[in-house]
Amino acid sequence: MANIFTRTADGVMNWVNERAPAMMPVYRKHMTEYYAPKNFNFWYIFGVLSIVVLVNQILTGIFLTMHFKPSAADAFASVEYIMRDVEWGWLIRYMHSTGASLFFIVVYIHMFRGLMYGSYKKPRELVWILGMLIYLVLMAEAFMGYVLPWGQMSFWGAKVIISLFGAIPVIGNGLTEWIMGDYLPSDATLNRFFALHVIALPLVLLLLVVLHIGALHEVGSNNPDGVEIKKGPKGNRWSPTAPTDGIPFHPYYTVKDTFYVGGFLILAAFIIFFAPAFGGWFLEHDNFTEANRLVTPEHIKPVWYYTPYYAMLRVIPHKLSGVIVMFAAIAVLFLVPWLDRSKVKSHRYRGWLTKAMLGLLAVCFVWLGKIGAGPGTDPVETQIGRVLTFLYFAFFITMPLWTAIDKTKPVPERVTTHD
Ligand code: HEM
Repeated sequence: MANIFTRTADGVMNWVNERAPAMMPVYRKHMTEYYAPKNFNFWYIFGVLSIVVLVNQILTGIFLTMHFKPSAADAFASVEYIMRDVEWGWLIRYMHSTGASLFFIVVYIHMFRGLMYGSYKKPRELVWILGMLIYLVLMAEAFMGYVLPWGQMSFWGAKVIISLFGAIPVIGNGLTEWIMGDYLPSDATLNRFFALHVIALPLVLLLLVVLHIGALHEVGSNNPDGVEIKKGPKGNRWSPTAPTDGIPFHPYYTVKDTFYVGGFLILAAFIIFFAPAFGGWFLEHDNFTEANRLVTPEHIKPVWYYTPYYAMLRVIPHKLSGVIVMFAAIAVLFLVPWLDRSKVKSHRYRGWLTKAMLGLLAVCFVWLGKIGAGPGTDPVETQIGRVLTFLYFAFFITMPLWTAIDKTKPVPERVTTHD
């Protein structure tokens, strides 16, 4: 049996190779002859998990689009129709809505991994920049997706966020009106957001992901030791010119990743089946009520993945300053490759200062997220939010200093698990 399959597969491959000989080298370059460091750990699966979630979003999105009606009059009812009457519609919708939150969970961990191991440092600055562009597009994509079901939070969230552009001097009001296509979120807004959400931004996202991985494969992956395996000894059992500490991505890492993808899908299934709204964190309670421009929800707040930035906006009393700080908080991440002055990549060979600063950044981000998700009425919390915002920026502004003075340990010549 196996013989028939392998012979047929070989036959098909040969047939394709004869007609498109340029395809096989691409596959080899990125899979069987891509030599990844042999010491990847758990933190290295989140790139692949991001791809898994991206594919899930595209596939479930296609099926949702078949039944969704992109008009202010019908959108909410069409989502209810998907949930109640379309065969398996509830599953497709919950896979998509849960997928959005899972996307940000895996991407945030993926980014933090980059910070821990100095993966943004030379020669991987471009990989980081492309990653940041992905993050920006992802935020726009999720924001527009959240507006589509036309619930209360879709409407009021869109109103608050788009109105932020109104704080820009001179062009602000015109710009807000231009984005909405009206004076309030309306049918025109929903239509354009639908077009951007289902086609324009996913295309950009896919292109950026291809470039991101392409840029990584040009220079090769970093690893938990931060050792450049290409600079180490050459030759292994697969090739005399490959780095000795590298192993072919396929089949070694495809097998390892498949195992973790399985675990991740089981976890995802638990949420999808048992807690799709996740206590109001993944789907907010107010969004189960249709949009009504005459009734403002008690607390307008975005979904959890934006709340750290939203908290910064809210704790700053001056609107334009708040908007600037919020955008600066994202923009400053682009500069990390040039702010880090350490000679060493991985935190493993850096001192306690780097570890403390990374811990501080994580605490600030999560705590701000909690504050941003709350009602924003507690003055003590507002003060704490200001301190956290200050510390968040201090991490980046003082980065050239603390990365330069932090004591480093000698980096080994080869990755630590090279046997
Ligand atoms: C759709 C979102 C994303 C996808 C699908 C994706 C995919 C990947 C994949 C498959 C890898 C190689 C495997 C790995 O190292 O985990 C990778 C590496 C990397 N990604 Fe992403 N990524 C995404 C977003 C981001 C973001 C937002 C950033 C940071 C701003 C980022 C920064 C990096 C860096 C620095 C590396 C190199 C890591 C190393 O070699 O140590 N990525 N990405």
